[in-house]
Amino acid sequence: MSGSVDLVVMLSTARRAVQLYPPAHPSYREAIDAVVTAVAECSGQDGGFVLNAHEGRLYDGSAVITSDAPALGSLVQSMERHRIESLTFDPSFATTDAVALAEVLNLRPAPSLKVDEELSRRGVTAVVVGALGDDEVQAERKERDVRREKDRALYRQLVAVLRAVQRDVATSGSPNLDQAEDMVGTIMSRLLEDNAAVLGMATMNARDEGALFHSINVMIYTLTLGLGLGLPEDGLQGLGICALLHDVGKAAFDLDDPEQARAAMLLHPKIGAEALARLPEEDPSTMLVAFEHHMGADGSGWPERPDGYVTHPYSRMVSIADRYENLTKHGDQGHPVTPDRAVVQLLREAGRSLDPLFTRLFVQSLGVFPIGCVVRLSDQSVGVVSATTGDLLRPRVRVLYDARGMEIEDPVDVDLVGDTRNIVEVVDPESLELHVADHL
Ligand SMILES: [Fe+2]
Ligand SMILES: [Fe+2]
Repeated sequence: MSGSVDLVVMLSTARRAVQLYPPAHPSYREAIDAVVTAVAECSGQDGGFVLNAHEGRLYDGSAVITSDAPALGSLVQSMERHRIESLTFDPSFATTDAVALAEVLNLRPAPSLKVDEELSRRGVTAVVVGALGDDEVQAERKERDVRREKDRALYRQLVAVLRAVQRDVATSGSPNLDQAEDMVGTIMSRLLEDNAAVLGMATMNARDEGALFHSINVMIYTLTLGLGLGLPEDGLQGLGICALLHDVGKAAFDLDDPEQARAAMLLHPKIGAEALARLPEEDPSTMLVAFEHHMGADGSGWPERPDGYVTHPYSRMVSIADRYENLTKHGDQGHPVTPDRAVVQLLREAGRSLDPLFTRLFVQSLGVFPIGCVVRLSDQSVGVVSATTGDLLRPRVRVLYDARGMEIEDPVDVDLVGDTRNIVEVVDPESLELHVADHL
């Protein structure tokens, strides 16, 4: 197994070396020789070695290759972007093959680029490429679309459930939370499965149902923080419900009327807490979060409370998610702030109105360039951050527009760890008329 990890690491080093150095440079030669040695060491008795890529993982034959080395992620992505399912190395693999392979893997993927043809054009006979069929690529794309549609349906369902809960509150009834609890559980498992898809949904907004969307998005961000904190599953579910219902008191007001909207702002914590106090629940956290989520950690905010009053930890967590959602949707000046700036603003408020420890954890979970952040790379291509990586400044980016600004039909994910490009700028998605949630 360690042989195959070595091969992957050496191949990644060689890809960088052929970009950085001229062929006569000692580092170039060293890197290429190391690939040849690694292939020889991987080749079994019967000769040859097969490297397979499948669903984001690399396999030594049929055994999954596990290692923390970032090279693994970058090679599997490169193979997938080039639609390579497998690379079979022949024992005759030599220096010229290693150079050609490193160079070809560095080429920008394009529908017109066929890796097997490109390698044979360069005289390579010791590497056989197993190409992903167009059918498989299509099937993958279709599967992603189906999943996205399912997630959207889940989100719409949650909007409907929350609308019913709010109606109960507005009419002074006692809301039934069973359905909401089930749905928080479903969203939570989706978050664990595919956090990009769920955090992508949290970027959604709706003019007419903004308040409901806001509550669901705050729940998603709060759960992200809860996961970062390592809360157990039942704790997370309770936390999710608290976040979902934090603004439930607003349901008692007509928010389209400016005067009522002002009153709602001041009074919704108290009214929400009163409605939730009517629930037979033994756990007071939902009521407390509704009551306390506008109380600053430094004594600022409202409602008023006695000196030394300590808010529930869930209230402090929801405050952070609430602030982040508000900044990214409206900002303080009525114009949305990009996610990276919202993160900086949160850090500025940490230790003042926001709990410092939870804020830092939240920022750590989201990253400096949170999922959904639209970024321009150093080659002028533009994409959306689709995953965080071990490197805060080098997330994974789904490239949507190429360097000439042309929309890419079949966007690919690029792990900036192990890529030569950097993020040079965060772009306002509105300036590109881009709906981030459609791309995650
Ligand atoms: Fe609120
Ligand atoms: Fe809120």
